[in-house]
Amino acid sequence: METEILTLSDPAAEERALALLDAGDLVALPTETVYGLAADATQGVAVAKIFAAKGRPSFNPLICHVFDLAQARGLAVVGRAAEDLAAAFWPGPLTIVLPLAPGSPVHPLATAGLATVALRAPQGVAARLAQVLGRPLAAPSANPSGRVSATSAGQVLKGLGGKIPLILDGGASSVGVESTIVMPQADHLVLLRPGLVTRAALADASGLKVRDRATTAGVTAPGQLASHYAPAGRVRLDATRVEPGEYLIGFGPEPVAGQELAADVINLSPSGDPVEAAARLFAALAAFDSPDIAAIAVAPIPAAGLGEAINDRLRRAAAPRT
Ligand code: TXA
Ligand code: MG
Repeated sequence: METEILTLSDPAAEERALALLDAGDLVALPTETVYGLAADATQGVAVAKIFAAKGRPSFNPLICHVFDLAQARGLAVVGRAAEDLAAAFWPGPLTIVLPLAPGSPVHPLATAGLATVALRAPQGVAARLAQVLGRPLAAPSANPSGRVSATSAGQVLKGLGGKIPLILDGGASSVGVESTIVMPQADHLVLLRPGLVTRAALADASGLKVRDRATTAGVTAPGQLASHYAPAGRVRLDATRVEPGEYLIGFGPEPVAGQELAADVINLSPSGDPVEAAARLFAALAAFDSPDIAAIAVAPIPAAGLGEAINDRLRRAAAPRT
């Protein structure tokens, strides 16, 4: 894939970005913190392409970028603390983790199946694109997994050139570190990631105490949250044979032995495409998450590329519950 670079002063740049995002493709773009690798957060395949391009070995929940508080209200339950924080710091380098609104259009792959969503209204082109598109943009930092965050278009090109169709060049990021992430609770705030917006500023704007994640009982890093979609039933991985009555999550064109005895089958990608499979994974686990479903078998999924992230997520879903 050829990677095109357009400067923001080019009048065609935003229109080209919009067309790509609307079609479910990726656009790397500048924000005041770091460059983001953006996709339409409501399209599962688009979000899956982010993980594929970054070579990410697991599905972390992603920050969804919005234009303003009004757009945020369509996605999440915005309480008093969030209102105050947004009024003080949006647009800017603050991300607020909020409960998903009922019927929220954010795709479960963007939230890693959590019941919450991280929202940020950035400055500049990312916010404008979210506004014109009318949809939130999921965007982690625009670098290959495990490498430092990119703060210029050149750095994005170095890491992701050939893997994404477009980079918008807006010069060097002014902040240079990722946004502060905060999660409002009933009577305090939990600081999930420090950034330019300080603890003191958060307390000032909200009138609430700010606690660390570590000192707050029951809250842990997102990857370890129990609410990650572990279905009620037992999950059996790498199943090469279906036991009668099991529910089957399949992959690829070949049926699993005994598949005709399965209570129900969801194939993540009949053609064997890992991007499509990633996009459908959380919905499949949710569909089989019922007290009436005791056992779920999952067909082997090749570990290469995005398969590593899919298998990581499945291992978590299959892990013994505490
Ligand atoms: O500055 C930034 O925030 C940059 C620019 C591009 O906006 N974006 C960024 O996004 O750093 P990302 O997707 O890499 O940040 C993801 C982090 C996760 O690792 C997690 O710590 C937190 O955001 N996060 C996202 N959703 C969450 C949720 N529902 N609950 C708790 N933490 C969440
Ligand atoms: Mg990052």
